[in-house]
Amino acid sequence: MSEVTTHEYDVVIIGAGGAGLRAAIEATREGVSVAVICKSMLGKAHTVMAEGGAAAALGNKDPRDTWEIHFRDTMKGGKYLNDWRMAEIHAKESPDRIRELEQWGAIFDRTPEGLTNQRNFGGHTYPRLAHIGDATGLEMIRTLQERGIHSGMEVFMEYTVRRIFTNGDKVTGCFAYNRTDGSLHVFKAKSIVLATGGITRCWAVCSGSWEYSGEGHALAYWAGAEMGDMEFVQFHPTGMIWPPSVRGILVTEGVRGEGGMLTNSEGERFMFNYVPEMYREEFADSEGEAMDWVNSIVADETPTARRPPELLTRDVVAKAINSEREAGRASEHGGAYLDISWRPEEQVRKKLPGMYHQFMELAAVDITKEKMEVGPTAHYVMGGVKVDPITQESTISGLFAAGEAATGLHGANRLGGNSLSDLVTFGKRAGQYAAQKASSVNEFEEIPANEIDQVVTETLAPLGRKGGENPAKVVEDLRNMMQEKVGIIRQGTQLQEALDELEGFRLREATTSPGGTRIYNPGWHQSLEIGAMIDISKMCAMAALSREESRGGHTRLDFPTPDYGYWGKVNSVIVMDSNGGMNLSHIKYPPIPQHLKDLLDADDLHEEE
Ligand code: FUM
Repeated sequence: MSEVTTHEYDVVIIGAGGAGLRAAIEATREGVSVAVICKSMLGKAHTVMAEGGAAAALGNKDPRDTWEIHFRDTMKGGKYLNDWRMAEIHAKESPDRIRELEQWGAIFDRTPEGLTNQRNFGGHTYPRLAHIGDATGLEMIRTLQERGIHSGMEVFMEYTVRRIFTNGDKVTGCFAYNRTDGSLHVFKAKSIVLATGGITRCWAVCSGSWEYSGEGHALAYWAGAEMGDMEFVQFHPTGMIWPPSVRGILVTEGVRGEGGMLTNSEGERFMFNYVPEMYREEFADSEGEAMDWVNSIVADETPTARRPPELLTRDVVAKAINSEREAGRASEHGGAYLDISWRPEEQVRKKLPGMYHQFMELAAVDITKEKMEVGPTAHYVMGGVKVDPITQESTISGLFAAGEAATGLHGANRLGGNSLSDLVTFGKRAGQYAAQKASSVNEFEEIPANEIDQVVTETLAPLGRKGGENPAKVVEDLRNMMQEKVGIIRQGTQLQEALDELEGFRLREATTSPGGTRIYNPGWHQSLEIGAMIDISKMCAMAALSREESRGGHTRLDFPTPDYGYWGKVNSVIVMDSNGGMNLSHIKYPPIPQHLKDLLDADDLHEEE
């Protein structure tokens, strides 16, 4: 058997984006030994793809903002399938987490009075997103990384974790291989934090880079943890669509937050036609009214009460762009036009420098003079590991999850900007409670040799296969299939086809032969990723087939409206059964206490149904 190096750390954190780094900082503060394992280079995380800002009710731009309104917006945006306990914690604690980042050196844009500036985003009642231009996630990563590396954590870069070991329902460690030299490693751990981000590489058009193949979600599932809400995938309305080589790359919602307008091929500002009943009172219904709002933000004044419909929640805007295309009113390359060029050039360049360069360099479009072309791109998964709302511990003792890897906060649809504040709010909690758990455990547990041998054999297997399929082709086909059958608009027959086809992908996975050796071999890595992608895709398709309604990030052509009865009150849960099968059920969160219910829009709750 190949040589395996063993390490021991009280807390192992898998993933080094915002949630992982924030967890590491907190865990080291508790005085335990901490390892951070990341698949890529430190600092390269999907966190940087949250460009437009971090949502927190600081009340700097509009003093009427409070945690109560942030709580209400998050629940409404999530179509009331959120874990209200997480939504409450997030709304209350996120302002402190943002202020803390500033104390640690993060630089945010300022108001004329010198306070942290806040920008408008979809579904937020008031300007709420602390930001620096359109590079907020990057600035957060820079700050957390600098703080983290001085806190004593050990970093293992370019390692992929392939298995979490458990003894009964308790975590004992994990197995990883080094992507550059192919060396094999066991990490004994008293607790593990999964901060692995998302799964959106399972779709052909997505905003995530190669890392987001869903191993984090799969690791938790394989370890026996409960997974929740996997039908809810967020298609961000504005990804680049042209040229084809850049399709899916994010165009920040900050463009619309700064007054960007969406139009169709007929020049119509179509979002006025898509305002859902639940948002009618809050959104402008005429261009004149929308322009009042726009003029107020250009003048850096408190915005008027009724927002332009481009700032509806992402699920609504993405589906509207899709509907315009279906109706034959798409932009030249099949999306919609997004225009910020009406604002003075220096303002566009100051507020959206990244977008200016992105379009100039990748599409030869000058956004200060021309319209952008945009369309939906898979950006985020609301579903993930089910966690305790206070501690972030999963249903496996000692296994914690935070950020996109966890579910609960965002319900059926996440509000833009809530992910960055989620990462630091719940990353901190996960790090704290994982460290406390580790401190309560005396010894590292032995990991049975046969379990290590098994995962080593599975890991090396693709290198021994000859004459099979190229793994890149299998991945490409799987992503196209998911795009077509488990995409933004779904229907039962296609979801069932997806489930059937995924079994075929399993057979193909078993024959992939990447060739080459263990020394930096991307084909080998890809062969190993396919198993996770299949299981994750199956979870999404299965949960989507079961939910017979349309809500948030889940739209069914065959069940086109929300069901305010059963489906509006239950969340899906998937767990591996004792035969290794995927078991789906539905649960309800505890009832929302009256004092929090009073903060919500009573009409939306449909309590009588
Ligand atoms: O559009 C954006 O800047 C993305 C933000 C987010 O996903 O929260």
